[in-house]
Amino acid sequence: MALDRQLLQSIINEFTVDAEQLREIAANFRQDLKLGLNDPKESSLRMLKSYVGLPTGKETGEYLALDLGGTNVRVSRIKLEGAGRFEVTKKVGKPLILPGEYDYVGVGSTAEEMFDFLAELIDEAVDKDHETKFYLGHTFSFPSSQTNLYNAKLIIWTKEFATSGVEGHIVNDLLKEALERRGLINVEPISVINDTVAVLLSAAYQHADTYIGSIYATGQNNCYLESSINDPENVGVGGMILNLESGNFMKLTPNRFDKEYDENSEKPGEQRLEKMVSGRYLGELFGMALAELFDEAGEKYDFTAIDISSILMDESVDGDRISAIIKDRINKDVDSEDAKKIRELATAIVVRSARIVTAAFVGIIWQRAGSGKINKQHIAVDGSVYEKMPLVKENINKALSELLGEEAAKVDTMLDTGGSGLGAAISAAMAARHND
Ligand code: BGC
Repeated sequence: MALDRQLLQSIINEFTVDAEQLREIAANFRQDLKLGLNDPKESSLRMLKSYVGLPTGKETGEYLALDLGGTNVRVSRIKLEGAGRFEVTKKVGKPLILPGEYDYVGVGSTAEEMFDFLAELIDEAVDKDHETKFYLGHTFSFPSSQTNLYNAKLIIWTKEFATSGVEGHIVNDLLKEALERRGLINVEPISVINDTVAVLLSAAYQHADTYIGSIYATGQNNCYLESSINDPENVGVGGMILNLESGNFMKLTPNRFDKEYDENSEKPGEQRLEKMVSGRYLGELFGMALAELFDEAGEKYDFTAIDISSILMDESVDGDRISAIIKDRINKDVDSEDAKKIRELATAIVVRSARIVTAAFVGIIWQRAGSGKINKQHIAVDGSVYEKMPLVKENINKALSELLGEEAAKVDTMLDTGGSGLGAAISAAMAARHND
């Protein structure tokens, strides 16, 4: 069966953010930043205080870094050597779900099980040393309200996490209890930061002119350095980093696929931007649209962001790779013409994602510049969608130019791989004030 070209085009139109809409999203994002700075209740951005500014680059010492935020947990030992230099001396990691064996994030999983699993991994990272004192920095990539660098309470799970007993709790207290249960009282958690904050700390430790940190992966979110906030609890320089939780930005126009997905998601009404752009959701949106093209609307097609990436990578005339993926996932035969159409659909979904993410970047750049000129700057980004998804980087650059014109030359995005771990270590050094 040949896929209907007209229907495809109308679906592609629904996934298109044109120049005018792009500008409107950026302007609305900036407006929400302004409102949120005044009073976060007025804004769809959470504007969460992180109680940390930029590092000086002189942070030193060896720290444990725990990175919890996506499908894999990682624990590293990182030696900061100052002057932007560091060495990762140990790294261990495990998935949070191993089908058929365990699942620490699904419905029915508990805080105790999840944090005991983390403590076990930390034990492996310290080589079962229960004597030497270790300070631990924790990158916890979910919306948390903080009163200082230690005290972070999970507001709400995102990315379809459903572990009970964590929402409303101080995450490092849960971790401490699990460490005690395991006899690891020599490990002391001293900081919690969001992964966007970690990326910004990591990038700023190594490069000047970086004020925005972003994750573009399973989830999507941005933070930036707000120079107007002074707080006695804040450590670091230049002001305080605010975790925007921009995945929760609401001033967008979701299409009918976005709406339907949201209604059936773990947290309807939440994270509307994230559900339109991040890796956790791209495959599902694609699957919903494709089902409609195959005249099977409502049928659940299981595609992942990795499938989309493979589909986009096949630029061949006959589209063999695409046909093979479709055959494997939904057992349909498609010819080269249909494979081309399927690639067009995947393209539309990915390009929309990159344009919305860029509009948020520009909203922050405008807000930081105020009525003045835009500074030369890097936006530090980490995450598999940014790093690996075809079309993303070029569409970010294109949208930056559309929105900033000539001034786009002053702005670039910079990959900061591993920032979640390094940033956690830097935050621990800053909390311990080992930065002179
Ligand atoms: C979370 C953010 C996080 C982002 C990227 C979102 O779902 O709410 O806190 O920064 O994912 O990991």
